[in-house]
Amino acid sequence: MSTKEAQEKIIANMRRWQKVENASVASTGRVIEKTDNPIVRLVMELIQRDSQFHYRVQEFVADTLETKPVSLAPEELGKVWDLIEKHVEIEMETIRLAKDSLERMHGMKGLLVQQYLMEYLLLDEEKHVQVLENLRKIKQGMHPYA
Ligand SMILES: [Fe+2]
Ligand SMILES: [Fe+2]
Repeated sequence: MSTKEAQEKIIANMRRWQKVENASVASTGRVIEKTDNPIVRLVMELIQRDSQFHYRVQEFVADTLETKPVSLAPEELGKVWDLIEKHVEIEMETIRLAKDSLERMHGMKGLLVQQYLMEYLLLDEEKHVQVLENLRKIKQGMHPYA
């Protein structure tokens, strides 16, 4: 497969994926309409928001392959890296708080919902650190996906 063919296939995948994200937004909306349970509504709402954001990311990937090439030079990252380092500290604090809370909840009865939501928050905060860690690799001139 040529590079151009591969690119076209990726673009087609992004467009198809966007349709799936739209279906996800509609589907979560149907669940929200159907239930008054605040936990189910909260979870569906967060998936819905993620789907909307994923759509934007897929748009970005498709656009950059199609018409608007984009680059990410280590020097550009260098300009804001101090601030990003500081931000990572904030993320680390959120992870400490999530873990501390989970530990305190351990073995306690009647906290199933809170534990469930805390696990969700922990996963999300760890994801924030991970995407910044990958950015650091790019900044260092490493290619995390080679
Ligand atoms: Fe998604
Ligand atoms: Fe975060």
